[in-house]
Amino acid sequence: MLTRRPRNVKELQLDICINQDVSPWQTSGFDRYYFVHEALPELDRARVDVSTEFLGHKLSAPLMIAPMTGGMEEGAKINLHLAQAAQELHLPMSVGSQKIAIEDKTLADTFRVRQAAPDILLFANIGAVQLNYGFGVEQMKEVVGMIGADVLCLHLNPLQEALKEDGNVNFAGLVDKIARLAQDLPTPIFVREVCNGISPRTAKLLVEAGVAGIDVGGAGGTSWMIVEGMIATDENRKLIAESFQNFGIPTAQSVVNVREASATLPLIATGGIRSGKDVAKSLALGADLAGLAAPLLKPALAGPDKVKNVLRRFIEELEVLLFCLGKPDLTSFKADHSVLHRYVPTGAQ
Ligand SMILES: Cc1cc2nc3c(=O)[nH]c(=O)nc-3n(C[C@H](O)[C@H](O)[C@H](O)COP(=O)(O)O)c2cc1C
Repeated sequence: MLTRRPRNVKELQLDICINQDVSPWQTSGFDRYYFVHEALPELDRARVDVSTEFLGHKLSAPLMIAPMTGGMEEGAKINLHLAQAAQELHLPMSVGSQKIAIEDKTLADTFRVRQAAPDILLFANIGAVQLNYGFGVEQMKEVVGMIGADVLCLHLNPLQEALKEDGNVNFAGLVDKIARLAQDLPTPIFVREVCNGISPRTAKLLVEAGVAGIDVGGAGGTSWMIVEGMIATDENRKLIAESFQNFGIPTAQSVVNVREASATLPLIATGGIRSGKDVAKSLALGADLAGLAAPLLKPALAGPDKVKNVLRRFIEELEVLLFCLGKPDLTSFKADHSVLHRYVPTGAQ
């Protein structure tokens, strides 16, 4: 629980994500796949190692902490606890959208986690649409410099903006601006959806724009449509948001879409990752990392130990799964495409 009543929309969004059910009935798509268990794995469980490398950083597991917050008291606390856990477990982390701290510099400290996490791969975050609202390369450098980030991640959220009363809805001409920024900014640029996924066309556009990586932010996890529907005061706006609750490309399919557009682009699967098995499925479909937001939110309010506890559970589940597949590490796991099967719909056999 937040310790006091929400004072603005950002606080209200956070309060809703903490205290309400904001999952759609649509799934992230991982339930359409299953792994082939090996009763004779011919492997010692103690030998399973899920460490990996991403953008030159050694990680204890193929996991990252997805962007969530900043800009308020609770946000600062959450970011700090997430960063402490990320530092200890050698995992990457992103802060939430920093737009608010460019507009009001006194809020910058609520995003600054470098002291607690000097070594982690750290992602800065802001809406790509800000490139149409006065932001250029200088402001983006400021966003990166504010927190000493290694990567700038631009989020795409056209549906969420369209559902807000005063959303930033001019998404025209963004691809060219992203491409220019990718050339002009010394920091690598990732692009992510927030919860509606990446289509084959968007994947191709982003690859051609020269981004350094993509986080698919697919449908099936936290739904901003549900959140915006709860925030809306106008009845019609509420109904419109509700009609989009299950809209979007599931995370699993989004991963496939990006991998078809590029075999090698660094790729993160966020959106409805709820178990080590989901992590494994996203990797088997082509992702390099899986991102977690909602599962870490309440634990992050409580403290770094609670965050570590959740992350350790995901890591252990992943290890147990690899053990049951007879794979000692992620390289052998990812190299064997026979481990993952898709359920064949009834009637299609
Ligand atoms: C409280 C909260 C705040 C979020 N804020 C941001 C944000 O500022 N920028 C962003 O790119 N994504 C943001 N997201 C989206 C998440 O990073 C993630 O893509 C989405 O929640 C799906 O993951 P999940 O199903 O694990 O929650 C936020 C999510 C939550 C729960």
